[in-house]
Amino acid sequence: MSMVTILPSGKTIEAGEGDSLLSVILRADGGFSHKCEGKASCGTCHVFVHGGRKGLSRIAREENDKLDTLIGVGAKSRLACQALVLGTEDVTVELLSFASGI
Ligand code: FES
Repeated sequence: MSMVTILPSGKTIEAGEGDSLLSVILRADGGFSHKCEGKASCGTCHVFVHGGRKGLSRIAREENDKLDTLIGVGAKSRLACQALVLGTEDVTVELLSFASGI
């Protein structure tokens, strides 16, 4: 189990091993955008992971390919729908106001 802190609200949510960041964020913010419903094709769930990156699954090719098409991507970028909580450490994630979907 890990604790996921969501910025900028500062809410902290409990997450189990295998939970997607998207599912955790939606528990805290039901309005969080996820247009393709987790298929790594829209990019609207783009977030920055500020802490606990090693507590998430590695970036797979499909996620990496989508991130390459988005504006504002940096070293901390993840697609919340593709990042799975490993339960090994706590995670801090920032919801982005400029998230760019198609
Ligand atoms: S919900 Fe569309 S890429 Fe994550």
